[in-house]
This record gives sequence, C-alpha cells and structure tokens, in this order.
Amino acid sequence: MQAAEKDRQRMMDLLGIKDLRPGASASGKGPNPVNYDEAKADGDARLPDALKLEDGRQVTSAEMWWKARRPEIVELFDREVLGRVPAHVPAVTWKVVSTTRGVTGGVATITKTLDGHVENGGDPAITVDIDLKLTTPAAARGPVPVVLELAFSQQFLESIAHMIPEMAPGAAAKAGPTWQEQVLQRGWGYAEYIPTSVQPDSGAALTKGMIGLANQGRPRRPDDWGALRAWAWGASRCLDYFATDGAVDAKRVAIAGHSRYGKAALVAMAYDRRFAAAYISSSGEGGAKLYRHHFGEGIGNIAGVSEYHWMDGNFLKYDGPLTAADLPVDAHELIALCAPRPVFIGAGATKGDGWADARGMFLAEVAAGPVYRLLGRRGLGTSEYPPPGTALMTGDLGFRQHLDGHTPAPNWPTFLEFAGRYLQAPR
Ligand code: GCU
Repeated sequence: MQAAEKDRQRMMDLLGIKDLRPGASASGKGPNPVNYDEAKADGDARLPDALKLEDGRQVTSAEMWWKARRPEIVELFDREVLGRVPAHVPAVTWKVVSTTRGVTGGVATITKTLDGHVENGGDPAITVDIDLKLTTPAAARGPVPVVLELAFSQQFLESIAHMIPEMAPGAAAKAGPTWQEQVLQRGWGYAEYIPTSVQPDSGAALTKGMIGLANQGRPRRPDDWGALRAWAWGASRCLDYFATDGAVDAKRVAIAGHSRYGKAALVAMAYDRRFAAAYISSSGEGGAKLYRHHFGEGIGNIAGVSEYHWMDGNFLKYDGPLTAADLPVDAHELIALCAPRPVFIGAGATKGDGWADARGMFLAEVAAGPVYRLLGRRGLGTSEYPPPGTALMTGDLGFRQHLDGHTPAPNWPTFLEFAGRYLQAPR
C-alpha cells in the first residue's frame, strides 16, 4: 500500500492536486457514507450529449459518428479517464503449452493452455506472459463462437470468499450448470484469460507488468494507460490468437467480465471493434455506471489507493479540484463506443450489489440508445426502470438486475439467450 500511496502522491504533485475527497464508505459510517437512496442520486443530472460534436454541431449521420464524434469520445476517454495505450507496444508471441481432452457437463472438449509471451528486449527485467485457456467442443463441425471471460485467478476468488461468498470458487456450480457448461450446451467454446498476468492489480506495480514494460520501468505520465486499459489490451491479444486457431470463429467472440473485470471487458468491447458481443456484469463505477449517478461506489473510491491504478493519472483531477459533473464524458459514451454491437449489462439486487448501482448502469444504457438508433439498431427499448428480475432484451442493448448479490451467475442464462441471436454454432 505504501508504494501505491507514494505513486499516487507523485501523480497528484505532477497535476498540482492538493487533496482528494474520500470515497463513499461502504459501512455507511464516516464523513461520506454511501448513498443507497435514489431520491438523492441526482438521476436527472445533465449528461454530455453523445451526439453533439465539441464544436456544438449535432451528429446527424452514421458517417459523422464514425468520422467525427466517435474519435472525439475516444480521445476524451484516452486522455481524461482510461489513459492511452503507448504507440509502440512490444509484440506478443502465442504458444500452445498443452492440449488436453476432457468432458464438461457431459460435453467432450478439447482444452488448450496458451502462453502469450510479450517481447521484452526493451526491459529484460520485466516479463509478461499472458495466461489463457481455450476450451472447445471436441465434436464441433467447424469454427465455433467463443465466450472469452476476463477471469479472476483461483487464488483471488479464494481470498475474497469470506467477504463475497457468492463469488467463491465452486459457488456457481451449486446453483446449476456453470456458465462454461451452458456455453458448451450451445455448441460454443469458452476461454478464460487472467488479466493480472498482463498487469498486476496494484498501484505499486505500475512500473511492472505490461504498463511498466512499455514504459521501460518508468512511472506513468498523466495520460498513460491504467490497468483497465492494459487488461483490455490483453483481451485483444487473446482475440489475435483466436484468429489463428481454426477451432475458433474469431468473428463471433463475445467478451465477458464481472466487477473490476466487467469494467475492463467494457473497455475492451468499446475499443476493439472485433469483439462481437459483451456481457458486462456488476461493472459499476468506472464501468457502465454513470459517474453522475451518485449511488453506491463513487469517484472517490476509484481514486483511492487500492483502485486508482485502474484509471489514468488525469482521472484523479475529478476527485480533486473537479467533480463528476466536470467529466467531459460519462459511462453512456463508453457504451456508445460499442455500438452497433450487442451489449448486455447486468447486476444484482440493491441489497447485496448496491455498490455496483444497477440503475446507474441502466440509465447509461438508456443514454447510449440514440447512438445505437443512429446506426440503425435498437437500444433498450424503454427508459422506464424494470422491476428486479425482468430482462430487457428486445434490442441490441440488454439489461437485467438479478435478485442475488455480487455475482454474474444468475444472469448467464439471460445473456446467452441474448447473445444467441448473434452467435450461432456451425451446423
Ligand atoms: C470493489 C470495488 C469495485 C469493484 C469490486 C470488484 O468493490 O470498489 O469497483 O468492481 O471491488 O472488482 O469486485
């Protein structure tokens, strides 16, 4: 923690930030107790207009979106929120470490364990090997759609099991078929990528991992990439590999992630137009939730010592002299960057997953709708918040607040039904 604290202070000094506001306290105690009252969330706050150019002109055609407005939004997220991927990032070489046959949920499978080695001549002291596993049905009649999950390591899940039992290893299996089994039932494959193999989840490690390697071990500049962007970059490298593997239909790869990896999965979907669909689970603040909807986690938490490294340095300003209202973008525009591709956003009940703010994510999807419609697609189809447990999935944006806690499991069947409209197994 001390090293992260020092690094964050260095960034604050660089930006001339004297103090940061404390994050919301989850326990409800202290100077800034977490808010779970919709009446105080400022749900009507004015959002930046996704379809208005910085010079004030309205975006009225798909061409204006692709050529003018989308690049503006990308630049704002790059500079102010997520940071930039460096212009020259070392290359990745993929190797199949092993291939094994198995059976999952009654389906015969082939699993490849893969290693994506990042060239490290620039700083031999830092090694990065992307950890990826790919499982496809052994009897597939051709390349199959694949769901790529940004996966927590077993170790991490074990370490948080006492706090979030619903995420404990094996917890989902008790409730019915696992998501992997559900995916195989459809004749698709699944892959699990460990984002921390690309970038450790700590501010103390920003001079290490992929961010450190690309920077030759130097600390970050204010607009250098944060962990979310680095984790998303790793997901794109996994997709590069899939394009070389005949078992995978690389044009039909969906990306999925939960919580901090829900944020990273949304970033991957937004920036890499090759991903065909996304399941963004409980991504909350820094993910699909509007920064301007003050409910659950807030900017002050993301700017905290244990989370600031997810974002770029400039993001700290919005917890210092500036506020959420000063952000030049909001989460609806991150979702809009995914358009016209299908995105399903989920979360749990307020009691249990209120921190992630389901309604704040719903409101962001509603506000992304105009971009989907401009591109000839459909958004959520309503701006009225549905009762918990109700799936919205008539358009190219989907939403469901399930009835449990901080877990992606209950929404997997809904997501797969949604994604099934776009991804089909070979016949
Ligand atoms: C914390 C954090 C969230 C994050 C979550 C997780 O609760 O505040 O932003 O999504 O951890 O990744 O589990």
